[in-house]
Amino acid sequence: MKPARLRTPPHASARLRNLAVLATAPFWLPIQCLRHRGHFFDGIERAIDALFREAPFRHAAQRAGIQRVNPFVRFPGIDREQVFLVPGHWTSSHEQIEYPLLAALCSLLKPQNIFEFGTYFGEATLMFAKASPDARIQTLNIPEDVAPSQGISAIQAGELISNSQIGKLFKGTPEENRITQILCDSAKFDDSERQQQYDFIWVDAGHSYENVMTDSRHALKMVSPGGHVFWHDFDSSQPGVVRALTEIAREHKLFWIEKTSIVGFEKL
Ligand SMILES: C[S@@+](CC[C@H](N)C(=O)[O-])C[C@H]1O[C@@H](n2cnc3c(N)ncnc32)[C@H](O)[C@@H]1O
Repeated sequence: MKPARLRTPPHASARLRNLAVLATAPFWLPIQCLRHRGHFFDGIERAIDALFREAPFRHAAQRAGIQRVNPFVRFPGIDREQVFLVPGHWTSSHEQIEYPLLAALCSLLKPQNIFEFGTYFGEATLMFAKASPDARIQTLNIPEDVAPSQGISAIQAGELISNSQIGKLFKGTPEENRITQILCDSAKFDDSERQQQYDFIWVDAGHSYENVMTDSRHALKMVSPGGHVFWHDFDSSQPGVVRALTEIAREHKLFWIEKTSIVGFEKL
């Protein structure tokens, strides 16, 4: 009888191959990184972001007691069709769902007096006006010849636009006559005649901590009983907004609308 040939078990050759791959990694890894740099670095960036920005951000919101709410539970009368107007749906990105959601909130809450901090081109202003046909809207933005007294972040510097650009999207529309523009640095804004006057306030001007604190103080004085204040850009890429809102949450019951960067407050 022929003696059985001694054969190397298959898993041993695989182990050898893996060892060779590992040992030569310093040569092929940089080449692979360069070849797939888009996806590879995207993946790494996303992992770093999740670990160092997203997780601490969510933790800070939770510690501050900002309650995460489902909009359809918090506002049961909301028209889902209106929220899902755009392609994509409730699982899609912030930008796609936030404006339809705000429009649906306007349709439900029927505000009569809306105030907006931060007009920019007037996209949200026009959306508020269309969704609230009975409302008057006041929208405030810093004019071109005024430097923001509390500074502006590098990301936002590009948002300092000329007076002719501010609100250009609602100019010439049927809604324009219900919209009043205020050109003013919000830090210098005098709210003394506007206390408890507005049932819907949108805070979306400067995003530094100081800006958001100042605008929020105005908004919390200006909102009427039963009215709402909503803030934009509560997400890990806006540390000023996050810091300000987690601080405000110590004294005011804020809620964060899940899958959006919108935080709200209802004045009882
Ligand atoms: C994010 S944009 C507003 C976007 C707009 N609310 C929308 O949803 O379409 C911010 C706007 O705030 C303005 N802004 C920045 N700092 C300001 C300040 N201190 N006072 C008033 N407006 C300011 C900028 O010029 C810019 O037009």
